[in-house]
Amino acid sequence: MTKTNKNPVKITETILRDAHQSLIATRMTTGQMLPIISKMDQVGYHSVECWGGATFDASLRFLKEDPWERLRKLREGFKNTKLQMLFRGQNILGYHQYADDVVEYFVQKSIANGIDIIRIFDCLNDLRNLQTAVNASKKEKGHSQVALAYTLGDAYTLDYWKETAKKIEDMGADSICIKDMAGLLVPYKASELISAIKDVTDLPIQLHTHYTSGVASMTYLKAVEAGVDVIDTAMSPFSMGTSQPATEVMVETFKGTSRDTGLDQNLLAEIADYFRPMQEEALKTGLLNPKVMGVNIKTLLYQVPGGMLSNLVSQLKEQGAEDKYYDVLDEVPRVRKDLGEPPLVTPSSQIVGTQAVFNVLMGERYKMATAETKAVLRGEYGATVKPFDPEVQKKVIGDEKPVTCRPADLISPELDKLEAEMSQWKEQDEDVLSYALFPQVAVEFFKDREAKKSKIDPQIADTKNKAYPV
Ligand code: CO
Repeated sequence: MTKTNKNPVKITETILRDAHQSLIATRMTTGQMLPIISKMDQVGYHSVECWGGATFDASLRFLKEDPWERLRKLREGFKNTKLQMLFRGQNILGYHQYADDVVEYFVQKSIANGIDIIRIFDCLNDLRNLQTAVNASKKEKGHSQVALAYTLGDAYTLDYWKETAKKIEDMGADSICIKDMAGLLVPYKASELISAIKDVTDLPIQLHTHYTSGVASMTYLKAVEAGVDVIDTAMSPFSMGTSQPATEVMVETFKGTSRDTGLDQNLLAEIADYFRPMQEEALKTGLLNPKVMGVNIKTLLYQVPGGMLSNLVSQLKEQGAEDKYYDVLDEVPRVRKDLGEPPLVTPSSQIVGTQAVFNVLMGERYKMATAETKAVLRGEYGATVKPFDPEVQKKVIGDEKPVTCRPADLISPELDKLEAEMSQWKEQDEDVLSYALFPQVAVEFFKDREAKKSKIDPQIADTKNKAYPV
């Protein structure tokens, strides 16, 4: 930091998580990250987001890398900077709810391996689904940040956001994040929202948005004027488009003002120089599609995250029904209403999107409901801000009695069972958590890990397969 300021805007750098998840399908490898982290460690970021979200799945599935090993290496390199992760509440990093013992163990291991700040959200904004993770993170002396998934709709009034922020404070969170995954928060609404939340809580407020609809840097400007404490940005080579506003641009914007970040542009330029060839390479190979780098105004029209739009396109392509794209886009808000108008964020975005595709392709709404739609309507994901459409609920789950308690209260402890299922593959405690989240993918990864070892020293692999008394 070149100079200090009383009230600087703090910066969370997302290039090691959300930026590459949003632009290059989460394919940045640990090997690509490590050479630059000692320089990144000198910047004075509030935190570096580097784990969680899709990084875990993509590491195991596509990169054949151990996500835990990545975290440990990043921890080793970032000696002065807080490391941050994204955590889907009771869904952890997966797509359905887990028992409390798995959530607690995951939080414990994340912090033990190097995470400082856990950003926890729930796809329905049902705070009951966050309490276990918040408690666990406090127990492990981590910073628990509760994120509100930002969305639009009748139910989402300023009063709703204020009341929810107050509840987050009461549940013991250390800070609040407004998580605008689709880039729906426009500049003047951001002023209103930040001021309103600041009125009801003293917790630090962080804003996370995406450039998808083209307004994000203006939104940050207005949010900072309204007193937001931290903003999420990405180094320029992997910024904008479906990613975050550029770090260097936001730093320059507040230079010389009372909110000056104090970050050194020369140092940032050196870091950008490191990532730029990676961007050029990704453009050359097609991993980075120039289309996602522009402004997609449809996200404002349809109020869906950019990633969900591309998922819909690929689902329709598989069915040879690309001509139904606009019918599906029109169906999305209707399904969302039927399901209690949830925010559209993993996993609710996939659930609503896939059901909308089914409804259009089957020619009759809810003629076929996915297992996940059924689970939502049974209350297994938690409570939505608005009630479900009673007719749709009846058609999909018949006379079944929906869950009204916190869904995880009905899930028995799972860890022992999971440990037993995967014991033959276990090389470290954390392996059971990889298996819990992505059973098939993790087993493939474990096999690959073993195969690589036997290539180096076949005798080691051989002895592992023999039964020895323990
Ligand atoms: Co994001």
